[in-house]
Amino acid sequence: MNKKIFKISKKIKPFKKKIFVESDKSLSIRWVLFSSMSSGKSVALNLLKSEDVLSAIDCIKKLGSKVKFHNNKCEIIGCGLNYNIKNNLILNSGNSGTLGRLLLGLLINSNKKIKLIGDRSLSKRDFSRVTIPLKKFGAKFSSNSKLPLYIKGLKNPKPINYFEKKGSAQVKTSLIMAALKTKGLSKIKAKKSRTHTEIMLKNLKVPIKIRKTKNYDYILINGVKKISPLSYNIPGDISSSAFFLVLTILSKNSELLIKNVNINPSRTGIIKILKRMRANIRIINKKIYKGESVGDILVKSSNNLKSINCPTKYNTSAIDEFLVIFLVAAKSKGISYFKNLSELNHKESPRLYWGSKILNLMGVKNIVTNDSIKIYGNPNLKIKRKIHIKNYLKDHRIFMMSVIAGLTFGGSWKINDQDSIKTSFPSFLKILRKIC
Ligand code: S3P
Repeated sequence: MNKKIFKISKKIKPFKKKIFVESDKSLSIRWVLFSSMSSGKSVALNLLKSEDVLSAIDCIKKLGSKVKFHNNKCEIIGCGLNYNIKNNLILNSGNSGTLGRLLLGLLINSNKKIKLIGDRSLSKRDFSRVTIPLKKFGAKFSSNSKLPLYIKGLKNPKPINYFEKKGSAQVKTSLIMAALKTKGLSKIKAKKSRTHTEIMLKNLKVPIKIRKTKNYDYILINGVKKISPLSYNIPGDISSSAFFLVLTILSKNSELLIKNVNINPSRTGIIKILKRMRANIRIINKKIYKGESVGDILVKSSNNLKSINCPTKYNTSAIDEFLVIFLVAAKSKGISYFKNLSELNHKESPRLYWGSKILNLMGVKNIVTNDSIKIYGNPNLKIKRKIHIKNYLKDHRIFMMSVIAGLTFGGSWKINDQDSIKTSFPSFLKILRKIC
């Protein structure tokens, strides 16, 4: 286990900078998997080269696709919708829940036994959310809920009707990938979640019908015989931007322009929440790229932050950003309340629990339950103590949240497992050094 420790002993000085963050992880993994299903050559510019995406590339190579990198260009020659593989192939989804869960959908039509494994953190996470609905297509699993597990699909999976109640884009996407390999019409009623898969399928010219209501999307998807290749230039990740947004909001006399970020409305919960807390954020140069919204985010120090009783309608669109939102709550006037967040404990580590624990270490009063947290904010919060973050499951977002807390609130910090950032945002510290 890598124990590289990052130390902070000084607050960040005022800054005024322009940055690019790394490319969107959700779009990168989806592009890799859909390209592997296509017949032909797909090219991506600026594919995120993080461990999660590289794990996806390793997996599709084992399934028969060909991959080439040339500087910031990645070419994939897909192997089509069927696989020619041996029994007992092992696929490793590393730290990535998205990859593991999507792969199981993709493998629905392989009648060979395939073993899916992952790292220590992923092996603690729930897979029943995908194995239960995937069984309806006809797949068999050696275990319902935890990795390692074996999947055995079937040549002709049956279309299904399913109600996805968690608001999980991973589950929705896994089922859509499986539905594409059937010979009929699948109907998925899904609680709102990020919409990258549906938008990408439109780019791939796959017929998909979506009826949207306030809380649910009704998705109709037919099996297909072929998927065409897709060229894509992947924009920046709002989840990576989130750390720099909060760094700027909580710093004195600072300003940051984050260029070319994906701002799909199903991902911008953080911006809506922080604006309600009176953070100074603006989106400029907004445009549409292949159906996705992209823009620059201009953020400034915000001195007059107020607490929030966070509407649950923002939960899925800010799910990966709550840890840093909690830091803003810690510096806001009043008590903030975040509820119906049990899904946060199903991430790379149990983040609701860890968020609360880090706030405790910082001396910020909070009350946590299985699915909610109340944070007692203090606009004059300053930390003078020593803090050691053990990050026992190597959760990248726990590491980055702790760095932002140390740089903005002070104190003397030791933060374990610097290498965890390699899963989503390998250049996080390099970008930070440009600002500091
Ligand atoms: C993701 C969906 C979210 C998110 C994860 C990436 C995706 O998970 O937390 O980091 O790319 O589909 P859920 O869909 O399970 O909420």
